[in-house]
Amino acid sequence: MQFIDLKAQYEVLKDEIDANIQSVLDSGQYMMGDHVKQLEKELAEYVGTKHCITCANGTDALQLALMVWNIKAGDAVFVPSFTFYSTAEVVSLLGATPIFVDTNPRTFNIDTVKLDQAIQKVKQEGKLTPKVIIPVDLFGQPADYESIRRIANKHKLYVLEDGAQGFGGTIDGKKACSFGDISTTSFFPAKPLGCYGDGGALFTDSDEYYELLTSLRVHGKGTFKYDNVRVGMNSRLDTLQAGILLPKLKAFKDHEMEKRNLFAKQYTMLLKEHVITPYVPEGMESSWAQYTILLRSEEERTFIQERLKKKQIPTMIYYPKPLHQQSVYQDYDFNLDELKECEHVAKVCLSLPMHPYLDTETVNYIANSLIECLKEYRHV
Ligand SMILES: Cc1ncc(COP(=O)(O)O)c(C=O)c1O
Repeated sequence: MQFIDLKAQYEVLKDEIDANIQSVLDSGQYMMGDHVKQLEKELAEYVGTKHCITCANGTDALQLALMVWNIKAGDAVFVPSFTFYSTAEVVSLLGATPIFVDTNPRTFNIDTVKLDQAIQKVKQEGKLTPKVIIPVDLFGQPADYESIRRIANKHKLYVLEDGAQGFGGTIDGKKACSFGDISTTSFFPAKPLGCYGDGGALFTDSDEYYELLTSLRVHGKGTFKYDNVRVGMNSRLDTLQAGILLPKLKAFKDHEMEKRNLFAKQYTMLLKEHVITPYVPEGMESSWAQYTILLRSEEERTFIQERLKKKQIPTMIYYPKPLHQQSVYQDYDFNLDELKECEHVAKVCLSLPMHPYLDTETVNYIANSLIECLKEYRHV
C-alpha cells in the first residue's frame, strides 16, 4: 500500500500525460512554452483570480511574493509554527524575522486570537515592523480568512496565503489560493495537484504585483531578459511540468477532489468514536492534502504507527517538531504558554494514507486495523 499512490494516478492519466510530454519534446520549447501559458490561464480560471504566475517551486513562490513587498531586515512576518519549514525559511532568507504563532488544534491552522496578540506584542516592543501574515492552509484546510483579513486590515498588514497544501479547498464556494493579497501553491509530486518534479505558482488580482512577479521570476527582467532592472530569481516552471500538470488539473477538477472528500468522510465516519478526527468548519471544504488524526499520547502514537507498519499500512507524522523548536531557530525567544497547542499536536498527530485512487475497501481496512490496534493499546 502506498501513502500517496502516484503510480495509480499515472496509470489512469497515462495517455494524456505521455502525449503532452511528447508534444513538448517535439516543440523544442522547454522553457515558457505554450503549455505554461495554457496552464497559467486554466489555473487562474479555476482559482478565480485575475492572474496566475507559475514558478519553480512553492518555496520560491513564497519568496517571490515577499520580494514584491520588499520584505527585509527589521520586518516581522507572522507565520504558524505548525507548518513545513519553507513558510518561515523564506522570511529568514530575506533577513526578516518570522514570528511564530500557535495552532488551533481543531483545524491545525493559525490561531487567530493568538495572531492578533502576537502582532500587538511586536508593536508594543517596537523593535520590528509588522508587515505580513502568512496563513497556511494546512493539510488542505483553508485558514480562517475572515478573521485573518480583519486582523490584517486593523494592523495594515499584507496577507500571503501559503496554499502549498491548500489547492482545491474552498470557503463558501470561493477557492483556496484566492484569499491572500498574493497566494501561492506548490506542485511538489505529493501535493493535491502535483507534477513530476518541482513546480509552484502565485495567484493575485493585482496588475501591479503581476508585473513585478513576471520580472522577479526571470532575473528581474525589464523589457526583455537581458534588460535587468532589479534583483530577481531564476524561478520558472518548465514546459514539461506544465504539460504534465494540464491533464492532472483536469482530473483534479473532474473526479479527484470528489474522491478525496469521499474517502475523508469514510475515515471520519469509521474513526470518530475512537480518535480526534479532522474538523472542517461549516462552509469550508478541504482538499485533504493529508488526513490527520490526533491520538491520546505520544506513546499511543508510537504503538499504533508500529503496529500499522507491520500490517503494511504506511503512516506519516506531519510535523514532529513545530518550527520554534527547530535548531535553526534555537535563539528564538518565546513564551512556552503562547505555543503550547502546536507542541502538543506535534506529539500526537498521525496522517493516514490519502489520495484519490484509494477505494472503500482499503479505507475500511485501514480504519478497522487502526481501531483494532487502539483497542489492544487501550485494553478495551
Ligand atoms: C506549507 C508548505 N509551504 C511551502 C512548501 C514548499 O513547497 P515546495 O516543496 O514546492 O518548495 C510546502 C511543501 O511541502 C508546504 O507544505
